[in-house]
Amino acid sequence: MKKLKKVIIPVAGLGTRFLPATKAIPKEMLPVLNKPIIQYIVEEVLDAGFKEIILVTHSSKNAIENHFDKSFELEATLEKRVKRGMLKEIRDISKLNISIQSIRQGEAKGLGHAILCAKRLIGKEPFAVILPDMLISKDNGNAGDSLKAMRLNFERGEISSILLAKAKKADISKYGIAKIKKNLKLPGLGLVEKIIEKPSIKEAPSNLYAAGRYIFNNNFFKYLLKAKPDKSNEIQLTDAIQNYIRDGEKVNAFPLDGDIFDCGDNTEYILANLEFAMKDPVMKTKINNYLKTR
Ligand code: G1P
Repeated sequence: MKKLKKVIIPVAGLGTRFLPATKAIPKEMLPVLNKPIIQYIVEEVLDAGFKEIILVTHSSKNAIENHFDKSFELEATLEKRVKRGMLKEIRDISKLNISIQSIRQGEAKGLGHAILCAKRLIGKEPFAVILPDMLISKDNGNAGDSLKAMRLNFERGEISSILLAKAKKADISKYGIAKIKKNLKLPGLGLVEKIIEKPSIKEAPSNLYAAGRYIFNNNFFKYLLKAKPDKSNEIQLTDAIQNYIRDGEKVNAFPLDGDIFDCGDNTEYILANLEFAMKDPVMKTKINNYLKTR
């Protein structure tokens, strides 16, 4: 049984859709309620049983590493002011049972290139990739357990996998869209037969899109190395997956059971905040009362 321990989180993207908020703050540090998005992502990785995180980062993103580091000054102040509950919460962030390393993506050459930057730190092992824009609401359905199910599936049969969610028609051309060969004997939906990055509605083989969680065997790096840059000189993860499948590698399609929010989009970011706020009964009442007046 091959153990799957490492996860790559690409965080080098500049977050231009959230400017000016992201001029001096990484988009992954924007809060959903009182926690930065990246903290939810790291918690999901931890819950899924991984042991090592590799952040593929950029010089403007130090705040992410600082967030998971110990903050002596803040801890001392909270201690002095006897804010015990808050002190514990702050201490817990830097004491997570997972190692976090980072590596820079020197050039903005796309998602596929970002993952390649982590190759040396992955070594010869299999790995997962999680995209920090895509925030899962973990108490609805089994969505919060998806990454864990994908990890266990890999450890059983060494088969790669992708998490797929249903896209609304208007959103199809924003994502990587997959065609599935249904197979009830396999976990999930079956195998991915084809995947196309940002197709037009006409070209799209289905409404199932790659929702930012992937698991690959180490052989996948070969396909990232061979992938040709697209029109915008970016190496697309989806193109490498398509070639990997074409050469006979299997990719299981796992369906997302629950809600996911694309926090790279302004409206979905607001909806994510609403979704998480509505889990608190007091906030829920206040929000519902507010909405009634609109
Ligand atoms: C990337 C991937 C795409 C995937 C999406 C999920 O696109 O290329 O296949 O569906 O993430 O968020 P991006 O959002 O970087 O344009």
